[in-house]
Amino acid sequence: MEISLLLSTGFLHGISSLFHLISSLVSFLWLCLLPRGHPKDTPLPPGSMGWPYIGETLKLYTENPNTFFSNRQKGYGDIFKTHILGCPCIMISSPEAAKIVLVSQANLFKPTYPPSKEKMIGPEAIFFHQGEYHSRLKRLVQSSFLPAALRGSVSEIEKIVLRILPSWEDTTINTLKEMKKYAFDVAMLSAFGGGSDLEIQGIKQLYHSLEKGYNSMPFNLPGTPFRKAMTARKLLNETLRKVIEKRRQSEKQSGGLLGVLLGSKDQKLNHLSDSQVADNIIGVIFAAHDTTASVLTWILKYLHDNPEVLEAVTSEQEKIRQQIIEDDRELTWDDTRKMALTSRVIQETLRTASILSFTFREAVQDVELQGYLIPKGWKVLPLFRSIHHCADFFPQPEKFDPSRFEVPPRPNTYMPFGNGVHSCPGSELAKLEMLILLHHLTTVYRWKVEGDEDGIQYGPFPVPKRGLPLKIKRKAQEENLKSGLKISSG
Ligand code: HEM
Repeated sequence: MEISLLLSTGFLHGISSLFHLISSLVSFLWLCLLPRGHPKDTPLPPGSMGWPYIGETLKLYTENPNTFFSNRQKGYGDIFKTHILGCPCIMISSPEAAKIVLVSQANLFKPTYPPSKEKMIGPEAIFFHQGEYHSRLKRLVQSSFLPAALRGSVSEIEKIVLRILPSWEDTTINTLKEMKKYAFDVAMLSAFGGGSDLEIQGIKQLYHSLEKGYNSMPFNLPGTPFRKAMTARKLLNETLRKVIEKRRQSEKQSGGLLGVLLGSKDQKLNHLSDSQVADNIIGVIFAAHDTTASVLTWILKYLHDNPEVLEAVTSEQEKIRQQIIEDDRELTWDDTRKMALTSRVIQETLRTASILSFTFREAVQDVELQGYLIPKGWKVLPLFRSIHHCADFFPQPEKFDPSRFEVPPRPNTYMPFGNGVHSCPGSELAKLEMLILLHHLTTVYRWKVEGDEDGIQYGPFPVPKRGLPLKIKRKAQEENLKSGLKISSG
């Protein structure tokens, strides 16, 4: 709104007053942004702050983000300043500087999100906090997603896969949409455990209404997607409280992350409050499903475009399937530990697609970083994608080559799940659900991209255009026989 106000004022009063307005704004911003109270000889990083107020926002959103970052990196080096969405920012693309911000001096850089997102997810969710409350939540969330806790959910996740896959057969699917449904069902299972109370069905519906407004402009006016999402969020809170109440009253608070959160007591034996529990349940569902769905969509694209990799993955999975058939049992956690090549495909997809291009932090005080000043209040963005696409760490970075992960990457150069105190507690669950889906998909089905439209859409993460339409078919029986696999799963 401020931008349009600025422009219309300029037109009303003529070009010269527009010029005057802009130059006054520049001087005002300059005064605001001048670093105060720190050594004169510590300079700000190089870079351009772009236009007053809008900074370089339009450039970031109209250029390919890769080009935006790499042009500036070439011009200014690994640490540069810019101005995005009304905020002065420092972008960093060196692993060492990213480590300082995310790990070794993480206490000087707090996580930061737009207030509208905080309202939608819930202000007491883990993402928005530092210090003791954050550590307590982190321990609880992590304990819920450690391998020891996940072992038991393999068969439940497999059931979800076996329910979804047949519905894709002989149809053209929107891969992203289907992967979202899958990842959402897994997220609900992880949040609430098995079972399907009536309330859980209600929560699913309400969550979808909330989601629709998540990336909308935060105009809280009747009829706007934002207002609808906020209404759904309120109802979601009420329904969640009913579930919490029920679980608190029952002897066992078992089931998923909810059970863990309800069972927790701090040193003074205080339980988490209902709103703390509710915000963190919504938060985890939110963090768990669009991310995993976008990565799965990319995996199917890369396997389609690299038939030799698909064949190698299929062969690995068929060996495991053959053993399962011989033993007459279900897929187990131990089977998933034998999927070395498939795991490297996941690792390489996380690197190549880098769906979280960067994260945001804010300097809580003036900080000196590798000879540059980061003034208090400035945003700091470690650029995961730039680091993942740097040829010094990943030769031929644009090539999809899972074999590069036969040796571990250099420390701090590979951060698809972040690094340090706020790193992702759900990484093992995400990898597990991808492995289980790929096991059944590669052994039973084949897929072909419909249309020849290459390109990327953002929704909100980068994914192939139109959500990657795929035609799915059951593999020919002869192919299974050729590979020695006698019967198909399902
Ligand atoms: C492939 C899928 C996923 C990717 C790429 C991913 C990536 C990330 C990244 C990069 C961060 C750190 C953000 C930062 O430092 O600001 C993060 C945090 C987080 N992720 Fe994930 N994530 C994925 C799946 C999941 C799943 C399945 C869950 C749920 C179990 C989850 C729960 C969380 C939570 C709760 C945080 C916040 C942690 C904190 O603030 O301490 N994520 N994720």
